[in-house]
Amino acid sequence: MPAVVLVGAQWGDEGKGKATDLLGGDVDYVVRYQGGNNAGHTVVIGDQKYALHLLPTGVLSPDVVPVIGNGVVIDPGVLLSEIDGLAARGIDCGRLLISANAHLIMPHHKAIDKVSERFLGKAKIGTTGRGIGPAYGDKIYRVGVRVQDLLDPGILSQKIEAALTEKNQILTKIYNRRGLEATKVLDEYLGYAERLRPHIADTSLILGKALDEGKVVLLEGGQGTLLDIDHGTYPFVTSSSPTSGGACAGSGIPPNRLTRVIGILKAYTTRVGSGPFPTELLDEQGEWLRQTGGEYGVTTGRNRRCGWFDAVIARYATRINGVTDFFLTKLDVLSGLERIPVCVAYDVNGVRHDEIPMTQTEFHHATPIYEELPGWQEDITSAKTFDDLPPNAQSYVRALEEMSGAPISAIGVGPGRTQTLQIRSLL
Ligand code: GDP
Ligand code: IMO
Ligand code: MG
Repeated sequence: MPAVVLVGAQWGDEGKGKATDLLGGDVDYVVRYQGGNNAGHTVVIGDQKYALHLLPTGVLSPDVVPVIGNGVVIDPGVLLSEIDGLAARGIDCGRLLISANAHLIMPHHKAIDKVSERFLGKAKIGTTGRGIGPAYGDKIYRVGVRVQDLLDPGILSQKIEAALTEKNQILTKIYNRRGLEATKVLDEYLGYAERLRPHIADTSLILGKALDEGKVVLLEGGQGTLLDIDHGTYPFVTSSSPTSGGACAGSGIPPNRLTRVIGILKAYTTRVGSGPFPTELLDEQGEWLRQTGGEYGVTTGRNRRCGWFDAVIARYATRINGVTDFFLTKLDVLSGLERIPVCVAYDVNGVRHDEIPMTQTEFHHATPIYEELPGWQEDITSAKTFDDLPPNAQSYVRALEEMSGAPISAIGVGPGRTQTLQIRSLL
């Protein structure tokens, strides 16, 4: 039975939270498979707005089992305060399962993330400062602390001691910061262990059995395709694999169980942090998109950089992820424009590129080649079906579908749960 992946097709913040929530009523498990609390996924249900960082969006659907997979890096303090925050709003997280193999973000990861960014100066990545890169770095370097270590105080103590012996040297001698006290960190994490213990599980085994029993599993990506450590705009990326291949590695679900890959695609483009962004608008048009679309970061509150839709990126996302369906979000934001430019290819030093150039240097020099599509003036936030859309909005969607290389199966016309035009079933 199906395992469906939902993946950001651009640079994150495409509306993955809303899309996941929409499918929540029809799935049994929602799994986060990578990233950590660098993510900020917004869900609007009636007059209630939720911003989820580490918890899978499925936590908001009472019949869904939310799962934090092995590929995630977990800041346990943040996770517990997120759980407490939801409990205060009447949402129970008792069903949450956390992979014993997921890695923990430790205090030194956060300290190093912040201070190393400062050292980079102008060359900084613009990270969220949540310790994501350093935690994944230690994972790959095979010195990470895992969730299962919380269950063995002896091992936890040894690992913290060993880590701080090295990291304190880095913090004090390279960055001129204060070191961290191992006993304090140990006490803090043993406290988290008490509360997290009931949730810790062999999640890959549970998910494998659930699929055998015919249950439906939705894999909820964080970030987006162009932030992928391998396939994104390196080094201006996050330190994990948000693309669909990462969903298997980060959950323990094998590739042959995936039945659909849903790409979440904004009707224009945004990005937070540094790095190349060919269609970025640095003028009042960009400011208009930011204000109309409410493009301010959910996690850090930073202004999102805004620009027109980039079909080269969308085609790339289709290829890298094997997108079977797109969920086009925020079409409503574009209402009121006379004409809407869409980037169909790049010009790099006088040469046309229909695909993302091979090297970052070329990508940095890519300027968009635009095609202009006619806009529409009507407010579309109350549309219920595709046919309710003004003809030019329908043509815009069809043009994007044609350029992106996969069918657009759902369209967002507002942040609310009901503001979605479903063209085809997504499961
Ligand atoms: P995520 O990180 O991919 O989950 O996206 P974010 O939550 O960071 O940013 C998307 C923003 O757009 C949130 O404020 C959503 O409530 C909002 N949103 C999602 N879909 C739509 C839509 O179709 N129209 C409008 N106007 N807003 C939307
Ligand atoms: P969601 O899931 C947008 C960006 C940061 C920075 C880069 C590296 O809400 O779409 P990191 O802290 O991960 O080491 O930062 O990645 N970034 C995001 N941008 N949406 C996100 O998540 C992001 N998570 C990380 O801004 O440029
Ligand atoms: Mg977000």
